[in-house]
Amino acid sequence: MCGIIAAASTRNVGKLLVQGLHKMEYRGYDSAGIALHQNESIAHLRALGKVQLLENKMIAEKPKSKLGIAHTRWATHGEPSEINAHPHKSKDSVYIVHNGIIENYVDLRESLIGYGYEFSSQTDSELIAHLLDLHMNEGNSMLDAMYLAKEKLEGAYAIAAIDIKDNTNLVVARNKSPLLIGLGTDEMFAASDPLAIAQMTNDFIFLEDGDVAEISANSYKIFDSSKKEVTREVTHIDISNQATSKGDYRHFMEKEIYEQPEAVSNTIDGRIGGEDVLDNIFGLGSSDLFAKVKRIQIVACGTSLHAGRVAANWFSSIAELPCQIDYASEYRYRNPHVDDDSLIITISQSGETADTLAALSYAKEKNYLASLAICNVPTSSLARESDFVLFTNAGPEIGVASTKAFTTQLAALMLLALSLAKSKDLNPKLRGRITNALRLLPEIISESLLQKEQIVAIAPSIANKDNALFLGRGIFYPIAKEGALKLKEISYIHAEAYPAGELKHGPLALIDENMPVIALAPESEIAEKLISNLEEVKARGGTLYVFADPSVKMDVKAGELVHMPKCDFFLTPIVYNIPLQILSYEVALLRGTDIDQPRNLAKSVTVE
Ligand code: M6R
Repeated sequence: MCGIIAAASTRNVGKLLVQGLHKMEYRGYDSAGIALHQNESIAHLRALGKVQLLENKMIAEKPKSKLGIAHTRWATHGEPSEINAHPHKSKDSVYIVHNGIIENYVDLRESLIGYGYEFSSQTDSELIAHLLDLHMNEGNSMLDAMYLAKEKLEGAYAIAAIDIKDNTNLVVARNKSPLLIGLGTDEMFAASDPLAIAQMTNDFIFLEDGDVAEISANSYKIFDSSKKEVTREVTHIDISNQATSKGDYRHFMEKEIYEQPEAVSNTIDGRIGGEDVLDNIFGLGSSDLFAKVKRIQIVACGTSLHAGRVAANWFSSIAELPCQIDYASEYRYRNPHVDDDSLIITISQSGETADTLAALSYAKEKNYLASLAICNVPTSSLARESDFVLFTNAGPEIGVASTKAFTTQLAALMLLALSLAKSKDLNPKLRGRITNALRLLPEIISESLLQKEQIVAIAPSIANKDNALFLGRGIFYPIAKEGALKLKEISYIHAEAYPAGELKHGPLALIDENMPVIALAPESEIAEKLISNLEEVKARGGTLYVFADPSVKMDVKAGELVHMPKCDFFLTPIVYNIPLQILSYEVALLRGTDIDQPRNLAKSVTVE
């Protein structure tokens, strides 16, 4: 999704800004641009496509500047094009970059046209530059103009702006879209993502909704929504270069798949002890609160929602709690009835997903006992806005396709199921069994990564197809859904998932030699029924790729049977997900897609 970086420094900032844009490429974007203050003029460069193309323009033009703003755009209003790329300007004097969506842009645009402003783009963002210009022409400073503009803007935004008449200061504003200030030596930055400026500073100030700040090389001032100057906490974060570089891997996704044993260790470490989960790992008072919980509501999106679907089964089986689960984007619109003593759980890698944040904010108005987040980014809005949090500690996930974030979300959700059961004094033996199994999980994930060779051999027979079907039953159905999502996301092959028993109710009609069927067949009480479902596929000429418990001895004919390492039944969904990630990756590699930044997608979806 869109990325903002801005800098005020005593040295040239052009290179730093482009470097920052490169660091945000993982978020997904379609164009990039920069505006650099050059005292008499502002250098304005934009490019459709990769940041490298913008960098080539910079190399050709060599603009020198100590104050600038830059942006990667992920199109919402108006096609991806150079003209729609940010920064946008008003009369060669005010330049802005914007993340988010201005919901009342049609009305505002019309009213600005009434004032004589001309629009050159189809975006909802350009009007912000005109609005600032309008108020500055009334004699207001950029800071005051930003407040006046804010009164009119509806929707989510993070904005950075510069003005031709001021070669020292830039002004930023935040409302429901992430924005932070980075504190350097003789230089200050603003960015939507700490990774963008992590090479320049480790000290960040996360702005709050309603904040406006004025930033120069040696100072910054932050004002809250009522224009009162405020002090916000400085957070020190070390983001190592190793965590944000590919190393010897071909893609971040590949690196992140193979990092999973360590990532899961980091999720579990210090959170279990002896035969049980430790108390209060979700925050002070969480164990007491869990004793009161009678119902659970989960909201999340995409891969995180799939983690929630697996967890719903664990909450029921281990903690004996009913659980309802909703797409975050739908939850608010179904008029949910909230029973007494319900806990709302949000799951999000980034903690900045607009749909999930909006669902949480809606839920806060309801009578939930408390809100709890499973999140990978400690500085995220979700973490700050939830009553209780457990960080997955997966380290930065750069590939758009979620891999280690999913696996660690599952490990964290299992800790939650165990904690809820412990607070209610339920199933102590089962808790002990699962706790011990959790300790072995990183090793079993390492074992499952060794199946790479067998999966590499399968990949060509899927890479040349247009469709694929994923099958799983019970707790493996969400894993099948996640497998299908991963394949379509990075290889652009149409993939669907079904609970295997549903096949005969319709989808069986799709089966022929062009429809590979990928099935999950762990040891379970319904293993035999699943095998019968797979026989139905085989009988109709379907090619089967079955990831199965070693006890499954099925003859798959044209396809392949891959035996999975054994582990405790409750943790098998985590392990069976690993080969599906590798399969998607290997298939996408053969199809030559942009694996880390698949077309049309963004890492952190900050618009509703
Ligand atoms: O950051 P979040 O976990 O809230 O993101 C939710 C989805 O956008 C995300 O999981 C998406 O589905 C992934 N790209 C899938 O790989």
